[in-house]
Amino acid sequence: MKAIIYSLFGLLAVSAAFAADACYQDVSLDCGQASNALSLPRCNAIYGEYGRHGNVATEMQAYANLHLERSYEYLLSAAYFNNYQTNRAGFSKLFKKLSDDAWEKSIDLIKHVTMRGDEMNFSQRSTQKPVERKNYTVELHELESLAKALDSQKELAERAFYIHREATRNSQHLHDSEIAQYLEEEFIENQSKKIRELAGHTTDLKTFITANNGQDLSLALYLFDEYLQKTA
Ligand SMILES: *[C@@H]1O[C@H](CO)[C@@H](O)[C@H](O)[C@H]1NC(C)=O
Ligand SMILES: *[C@@H]1O[C@H](CO)[C@@H](O)[C@H](O)[C@H]1NC(C)=O
Ligand SMILES: *[C@@H]1O[C@H](CO)[C@@H](O)[C@H](O)[C@H]1NC(C)=O
Repeated sequence: MKAIIYSLFGLLAVSAAFAADACYQDVSLDCGQASNALSLPRCNAIYGEYGRHGNVATEMQAYANLHLERSYEYLLSAAYFNNYQTNRAGFSKLFKKLSDDAWEKSIDLIKHVTMRGDEMNFSQRSTQKPVERKNYTVELHELESLAKALDSQKELAERAFYIHREATRNSQHLHDSEIAQYLEEEFIENQSKKIRELAGHTTDLKTFITANNGQDLSLALYLFDEYLQKTA
């Protein structure tokens, strides 16, 4: 009986070693061979879902790339509203801030991807069905551009939900609570505020425009731009 129990323990110890001692095994193997070239392929920062290069890992890279794209587009809009013909300093400020925020988030995501031991792939796109997009147009009217900004912020928020959902699935292959918490703290919380703010601006501008039956549109836009300069 004792012999059986001991051999069972032995089996358990061996199988546990395969799962948990990968880096240790690399080290002791290399040191045992007394070779100069230490290659320790399993001594990395990868654990959990990232080790399987699964959906969450690639979606995180795609999310960084989406932020980069948006940051660039918002910057184009900021420049457009800042030129001397359009001359809307308030709108320009609003888009510059959106651009800076998206840029900051993409840097943060790239750092997070590498922290988890993965390599950043700038060609990675989401497996989620891409939002149908026409070529990005900068020359939009004020209300249209606000509407577009609102849509794209919603897309960013929904993509965070999607990755969060994948990461919190009760599946051995997808569950990654570290990613879920990171998304909640760094993205989901503030995204709701930004969306609320943009929705508010859109409604306000619509009110400005319709208040005087569109008679003095340029005055309405001018006033709203002044208001954005002070608040955005
Ligand atoms: C990067 O992503 C693209 C698109 O998914 C893929 O075709 C390519 O093989 C990836 N590159 C690496 C090094 O994984
Ligand atoms: C976007 O622009 C490219 C190049 O100008 C063009 O080939 C493509 O058809 C355009 N796509 C859409 C959806 O307009
Ligand atoms: C959320 O927004 C606030 C106010 O704009 C900002 O101070 C804070 O740094 C943001 N948090 C994150 C995680 O981006």
